[in-house]
Amino acid sequence: METIYDILIREHKMVADLFQQAMRDNSRETLLKIKAETDPHMAGEEKLFYPELEKKEELRDLVNHAYEEHDEARSLMSELENMKEGDKNWASKLKELKESIEHHVEEEESKVFEEARNVISQKNAEEMAKQYLEFKQTFKEQMPASMR
Ligand SMILES: [Fe+2]
Ligand SMILES: [Fe+2]
Repeated sequence: METIYDILIREHKMVADLFQQAMRDNSRETLLKIKAETDPHMAGEEKLFYPELEKKEELRDLVNHAYEEHDEARSLMSELENMKEGDKNWASKLKELKESIEHHVEEEESKVFEEARNVISQKNAEEMAKQYLEFKQTFKEQMPASMR
């Protein structure tokens, strides 16, 4: 059965593909597609996944660091959102966001998931997959129609 890791890794790949597209077309439309993926993804991790890890004292620093990286991504995203298409800083800011997210994904997949597999049982990881998809559905319903 599918686990939370399968879903999160699949979404990481989808976002990486969207970034390739964004680097080519530099469009606001593609940026908003990225946001429509990353917003519910980060919120879901923060709501369902990270709290399980935080229960372990020794993982707290790792999780706090992940929260910080989410905040950094959100803040770069909102800077981009507030720019007009064609702004001369667009491409460099987009690159910064891309690299920030790539770095986070790399740490998540190599460190966080690795630790999580020791803490979260297979059954729980499968259960969490279901909860995550439900959470995401609800989250998306609350997003502006233009972003869904
Ligand atoms: Fe993630
Ligand atoms: Fe994350």
